[in-house]
Amino acid sequence: MLPEHAPFTTDQRLALDSLIAGLNPVQRGWLSGFLAASGSVAAVSAPVSAGKLTVLYGTESGNSEVLADRAVKAAKKRGFQANMKNMSEFSPADLAKSPSLLVIVSTWGDGEPPETAISFYKEFMSADVSLAKVSYSVCGLGDTAYEKFCQVGKDFDARLEGLGASRVFARQDCDVDYEDSFTTWLEGSLTALAPASAVPVAEVAVAGYSSSTVEYGKKNPFPSEVLESVLLNGEGSSKETLHLEFSLASSGLSYEPGDALAVVPVNAPDTIKAVLGAAKLTGNEEIELKGGEIKLLADALREDFDITALSRAVLTKLADACDSAALRELLADDAKERLKEFNHGREIIDALLEFAPNGLSAAALVGIFRKLPPRLYSIASSQLAHPDEVHLTVAAVRYETHGRKRKGVCSTFLADLVKSGDAVSLFVQPNKNFRLPADPATPIIMVGPGTGVAPFRAFVEHRAASGASGKNWLFFGDQHYTYDFLYQLEWQEQLKEGVLTKLDVAFSRDQPEKVYVQDRMIQQAEELYQWLEAGAHFYVCGDANRMASDVHEALVTVVQTQAGLTHEAAESYVENLKKTKRYQRDVY
Ligand SMILES: Cc1cc2nc3c(=O)[nH]c(=O)nc-3n(C[C@H](O)[C@H](O)[C@H](O)COP(=O)(O)OP(=O)(O)OC[C@H]3O[C@@H](n4cnc5c(N)ncnc54)[C@H](O)[C@@H]3O)c2cc1C
Ligand SMILES: NC(=O)c1ccc[n+]([C@@H]2O[C@H](COP(=O)([O-])OP(=O)(O)OC[C@H]3O[C@@H](n4cnc5c(N)ncnc54)[C@H](OP(=O)(O)O)[C@@H]3O)[C@@H](O)[C@H]2O)c1
Ligand SMILES: Cc1cc2nc3c(=O)[nH]c(=O)nc-3n(C[C@H](O)[C@H](O)[C@H](O)COP(=O)(O)O)c2cc1C
Repeated sequence: MLPEHAPFTTDQRLALDSLIAGLNPVQRGWLSGFLAASGSVAAVSAPVSAGKLTVLYGTESGNSEVLADRAVKAAKKRGFQANMKNMSEFSPADLAKSPSLLVIVSTWGDGEPPETAISFYKEFMSADVSLAKVSYSVCGLGDTAYEKFCQVGKDFDARLEGLGASRVFARQDCDVDYEDSFTTWLEGSLTALAPASAVPVAEVAVAGYSSSTVEYGKKNPFPSEVLESVLLNGEGSSKETLHLEFSLASSGLSYEPGDALAVVPVNAPDTIKAVLGAAKLTGNEEIELKGGEIKLLADALREDFDITALSRAVLTKLADACDSAALRELLADDAKERLKEFNHGREIIDALLEFAPNGLSAAALVGIFRKLPPRLYSIASSQLAHPDEVHLTVAAVRYETHGRKRKGVCSTFLADLVKSGDAVSLFVQPNKNFRLPADPATPIIMVGPGTGVAPFRAFVEHRAASGASGKNWLFFGDQHYTYDFLYQLEWQEQLKEGVLTKLDVAFSRDQPEKVYVQDRMIQQAEELYQWLEAGAHFYVCGDANRMASDVHEALVTVVQTQAGLTHEAAESYVENLKKTKRYQRDVY
């Protein structure tokens, strides 16, 4: 949809919106290429110099980096000498040299900075530097489903102000559907930093499209055919882990080992039925979507909206929609702990049943939802080994809370609703922070319990297909050897062929006491340390809540005991591995 500030009359804007909405991706690509070629969109003239601008970003899964790149391009069009800087390569002292500063940073873990921004964040929060000459604005990326929504953006904003910098434009806290809010923020920030340079960002963005071929990506996911879906666990297992293969034929999509695939799910029929029941609606009501499209409510609940994830943002909108005093009380500033407790294990349906017992109108119901976000999955294949395919390893999320059976939207969409031959919308989300060593002779150590093994299947396949000579050591863990040894035959084959140099497994529930991958690391401490000293890169993938920190501690212990260091010195050895990109994590 064209933004309201686009340089058109309302009638023109509506006519263009309706025309564009009716075009398919090929037609859109052709039209933008045609306009570019005919010079129709080259009318943005470079304005007077607007000075130096630093766009500082902190990212884990790449969104902030993409937006920083867009910010730099838009700023250059306005005459700024703009540069983008990754927080991983920036110091607080550099900030004082940045008279105009835009910060774009995401939040991870439980309100924490992205992995690659942790050092900068720590230094910055305790830095003693005057930023009196710096003008800035912050854009935080986050997800309202998390309690500490955009916490890191908030922290940067407050700290910059505390160090004397001048906020020229209000911070923007972006949810997962950040397109409009980011554009508004960028437009406002650039105008505030150099008012004379004003060129609408949307105009610049439009001028950027010149390709006449269809490009698949976040804005235009590829409808990929499902080639295969296989349950990896044996009968009797309490796990449900799928191996999925998708076709990339004629998509033009490419990926590297370490990248993730974003899958665009739809909501399940029983979830939709339950939400409709709670709202006392049939699904046959017509509703209007943001771009003006009219849809049946049931279809919109299936394809467009996040109808499950409960958050303060959803409850705030619901409080208005159902005018509930009890809900307003729960949302009060002094009831944060009560709200956290209420949200735990509950979904939107629970809130509807509790606070809107008389139901809602169709318009009011869709008014409380946000857009259905895609989910990321670590890619489990190498494109060298499977040129036209991409593979995933997906654990179906199913649990029961507050007397109701629950299921994860995307993992069970893939497990229950998708079969071979179906089309699933997807796009590649590059992850530059999780990469094989540039030198193929460098040894690698991979720790990937459960679905954490996914990217390591890609790593090993890639090293085999490219003939890399470096040694490969995998630590894998899951509940039972008999049912849960994911990709067992492939690993055994690769061991036999010498592609996999070492494989250590930890089956947690095959004996009375738990055995985890970190226990195997400690048992192998001497050799593990030798590999590290020989330059090995160390990778961890899987559960962020407990496994990643336990494995980190085990790594420190290995270094401490083998090198005879103090705990502090071992910590700094490991920190140095991180800084030199020899210790990389992909945890979720
Ligand atoms: C970079 C990255 C890579 C990833 N790679 C993989 C991968 O390779 N394989 C894989 O399977 N997943 C992977 N994930 C996780 C994946 O993106 C999804 O988060 C996962 O599939 C769940 O999504 P869903 O839509 O099924 O569940 P959702 O509908 O999003 O529901 C999940 C939510 O349910 C709640 N929940 C879950 N279990 C419980 C419980 N027991 N009690 C109470 N509440 C609970 C939590 O709030 C949780 O956030 C990755 C995530 C990231 C960020
Ligand atoms: N964000 C989400 O919604 C989402 C969705 C899917 C998965 N995940 C995360 O991704 C992880 C991968 O899921 P998965 O089902 O494939 O595997 P998993 O639950 O991580 O289990 C794999 C193995 O790791 C073990 N384990 C448990 N705690 C550990 C620890 N502290 N250190 C090392 N190993 C530990 C498990 O043992 P036991 O089971 O015997 O304890 C099991 O043997 C999950 O743990 C989950 O946190 C998140
Ligand atoms: C495991 C995980 C933890 C997250 N934790 C938070 C959080 O605490 N607060 C928040 O606002 N967003 C959180 N997010 C959402 C991310 O900030 C959001 O996806 C963002 O767009 C990522 O941007 P990036 O690709 O630049 O890192 C989390 C996402 C994941 C996958």
